[in-house]
Amino acid sequence: DPEDMISITFVGKDGEEKDIKVPVGMSMLEAAHENDIELEGKAWHIPPAHLSVMRYHSDTFLSSSLILCFYVMSGACEGSLACSTCHVIVMDMEYYNKLEDPADEENDMLDLAFGLTETSRLGCQVIAKPELDGMRLAIPAATRNFAVDGYIPKPH
Ligand code: FES
Repeated sequence: DPEDMISITFVGKDGEEKDIKVPVGMSMLEAAHENDIELEGKAWHIPPAHLSVMRYHSDTFLSSSLILCFYVMSGACEGSLACSTCHVIVMDMEYYNKLEDPADEENDMLDLAFGLTETSRLGCQVIAKPELDGMRLAIPAATRNFAVDGYIPKPH
């Protein structure tokens, strides 16, 4: 039923836009996967069947303190709030305000995300609902390469 689908636009790192249809109830992470949209940091493939957690800290990389966080879990984190590789930037505050407030766990993970903005969310926690029809999401690399409307960097 097309009424159960909403339109979402992903903006990639070169500013290219991809319009997709997302069924109500699906997360933006799943929607990106289904449409071959690469979210920042999804390049690594975490081997399945591991439940151990590894965390690396680095203070010098990229001139700011950056925490690289690898969680090795059953087939990547896949929405269990154990990584920040699904980081997306909601391009319009109007839509950002329609989202449920992030849980503490999401905020903790976002704090580790590269290129954090005031309208950053974790894609696995943003679930399609009718009010989000027309939402535009930028992948974090996009904000490094060109000015995104409404992009407000957030200091760590
Ligand atoms: Fe790991 Fe979203 S997929 S936090």
